[in-house]
Amino acid sequence: MGLFSSSNAGGILSQFQGLLSFGGGGSAVGLSIGTSSIKLVELKKAGKNWKLIHFGIVQLPDEVIVNREIVNQIAVVESLKTLVAQLKLSTKNVCTSLSGTSVIIKRMSLEVPNPRELQDQVFWEAEQYLPFDVSEVVMDYQVLSKGKDTKTDVLLVAVKRTVLDTYMACIEDAGLVPKIVDVDFFALQNLFEVNYPANPSEAVAVVDIGASSTKIIVIQQDIPVFTKDSALGGRNLTLEIQKNLNLSFSDAEILKTNSPPTELPQEVSDLMRVMSENLATEIKRALDFYAASSVGAPVSYVLLTGGGAKIPGLSQVVEETLRLPAQVMNPFNSISYDPSVFTQDYMAAIGPIAAVPIGLALRAGAK
Ligand SMILES: Nc1ncnc2c1ncn2[C@@H]1O[C@H](COP(=O)(O)OP(=O)(O)OP(=O)(O)O)[C@@H](O)[C@H]1O
Ligand SMILES: [Mg+2]
Repeated sequence: MGLFSSSNAGGILSQFQGLLSFGGGGSAVGLSIGTSSIKLVELKKAGKNWKLIHFGIVQLPDEVIVNREIVNQIAVVESLKTLVAQLKLSTKNVCTSLSGTSVIIKRMSLEVPNPRELQDQVFWEAEQYLPFDVSEVVMDYQVLSKGKDTKTDVLLVAVKRTVLDTYMACIEDAGLVPKIVDVDFFALQNLFEVNYPANPSEAVAVVDIGASSTKIIVIQQDIPVFTKDSALGGRNLTLEIQKNLNLSFSDAEILKTNSPPTELPQEVSDLMRVMSENLATEIKRALDFYAASSVGAPVSYVLLTGGGAKIPGLSQVVEETLRLPAQVMNPFNSISYDPSVFTQDYMAAIGPIAAVPIGLALRAGAK
């Protein structure tokens, strides 16, 4: 398993290692505070697999979160309290995640003759290229592989302390306990590993198109071999619709998300097509870079998720641009649910949006 992912004890808050006890009869809660909305998921162990017990989402006004930093704490706490009041969670312990420019992920290859010096060496090396002072970041790392010689490959994750502290404060103010902090990429990896078969000789790209950014992770043999956070997201499309049709942001958002589905104005369909092409080009660029710079296997298919994956026809545009199979990821391949509580239409609608919080709940549940 990869960094901070299901079988691993890591997490950015590594000071919590060993203190983790996820309560209430095998329940696990994942919390994703995204740019456009907050999502909360509870899973429960059902035999060997997981079952969805609760899913809740509350929309956030635009600019409450900017570049995945919480700008308006009161709005986040209030929204989170509303969500917590709606769902009868069986534990207050949650696993949450960060993303964006305050998160730095770096693969490093280190010469460490004495394994006991590894941590010092990792943190010392990290100081060399972090764009922040080490006193401003919280760091953690995961050993990826130990070579035959004294070289060790590690994946470093560093997050800005102020950003992390604000997330923690908001979650605690809403009455929850943030037990683990992960990053969106590894939540996607968890979700992939639980729902899709592993084939050691192939690499798979999972792409989460959120409101403010697109996160791309390439996974091979349970290892995150490539990650890229691109600033293009669903919000860009909303802003284009707002501008071109002279609407408010929220009216543009309503028109774009088109629920229940109706015939869209031609202008909106055209803007969606342009956005799909831009997203596909962005993914292609990232995967071309991966192919040119990595020794990993070629990507054999692409899974799309996040609310932006719901743009009609997107997976086809991605397939044509990348010349690779692409489809919308299904988080419920191996996670069950009660169809009398969650209808099929509802599940289809929430699938992409629920991906990261479910991946986080799986991480919580691995404890
Ligand atoms: N049916 C739809 N068609 C097109 N876009 C949609 C649809 N439904 C939701 N979206 C878009 O998906 C985005 C929200 O997705 P998601 O909840 O995954 O993002 P987020 O987690 O809030 O953002 P981020 O991860 O970037 O912080 C919004 O931009 C929203 O407009
Ligand atoms: Mg998101």
